[in-house]
Amino acid sequence: MTGRRTQFRGVGAYLPERIVTNDELAARMDTSDAWIRERTGIRERRIAAPDEKTSDLALEASRRALAAAGRDACELDLIVLATATPDRTFPSTATAVQAGLGMTGGAAFDVQAVCSGFIYALAVADNFIRAGQSRSALVIGAETFSRILDWNERETSVLFGDGAGAVVLEACEDDPRHLLSTHLHSDGRHGDMLYVDGGPSSTRTVGHLRMKGREVFKHAVTNLTEVVDEALAANGLGPEAIDWVVPHQANLRILRATGRKLGIGDDRVIVTVDRHANTSAASIPLALAAGVGDGRISEGDMLLLEAMGGGFTWGAALARW
Ligand code: COA
Repeated sequence: MTGRRTQFRGVGAYLPERIVTNDELAARMDTSDAWIRERTGIRERRIAAPDEKTSDLALEASRRALAAAGRDACELDLIVLATATPDRTFPSTATAVQAGLGMTGGAAFDVQAVCSGFIYALAVADNFIRAGQSRSALVIGAETFSRILDWNERETSVLFGDGAGAVVLEACEDDPRHLLSTHLHSDGRHGDMLYVDGGPSSTRTVGHLRMKGREVFKHAVTNLTEVVDEALAANGLGPEAIDWVVPHQANLRILRATGRKLGIGDDRVIVTVDRHANTSAASIPLALAAGVGDGRISEGDMLLLEAMGGGFTWGAALARW
């Protein structure tokens, strides 16, 4: 390895306190714990308190990531926050986190790629670091999807939850523990398969999430398999080189189908969708924090991160932790 690369220094996560089980949803709408578990693997999700904003979740996850990294916010020179549920249309949620951390220097901005947002934000920060424009970055995925769900629509409302996760990244030289590569894709022709039916310049309202679930499912498995193959090939690696897959947690069936196609066993995939449901941009750092927290992921492990979301957008990253 030569030149300046990006290293993970720490990860942190935050989940709202309130747990909503499938049975609780079944008491409110025509669904059941059995249907939700069988189709998605979800058992429960966390829902933010009425006064809890995306930036509040992000701020707590960031504090925990900084503590894990043994770093102070004043050492950061970049915050990239991935969200599709910002506090406000503007200013960015990243600047709210910046203020909350008491950080007055550097640059902070949001990235929007829905469920692929964390991989996009990671790629942006990695490029800033490798180009020499940043030395120490905070990359956050934070969402309050409960605010954009149509709670009268059982097809979508049972699938999502709220949460946040963050990682601290730093420049390194000649250290095998670094981010190997990131791979991003999008195809805007599929914008009407997974979208929010509102926005400031169209309906002037916030709107609700709408999805053609079956179509999304089919595209997800194909796109994820292709981008993972691309990431492995770019680094001259095979699936056996991967210690842990840390995937976006949309649906257990998507995780299992993608793993089977790639030849990566279930015992090498971090799963949190059962407890968190789909937390969009937050799901990868939440899963990473779970795997690191319980000791499954250890120093030097090869990690594969992958995600697919509305747009469509999709991407993958390979990193030695
Ligand atoms: N509870 C009970 N029944 C439900 C239900 C719910 N929450 N939601 C839908 N149904 C019913 C449907 O009305 C349909 O009934 P019908 O057969 O009488 O018409 C039946 O269940 C099957 O619906 P279908 O949409 O075909 O189910 P599916 O097997 O495709 O599973 C998803 C639905 C949404 C779980 C699945 O398509 C999926 O996971 N898609 C990907 C979604 C995703 O991950 N999106 C985010 C990507 S980032």
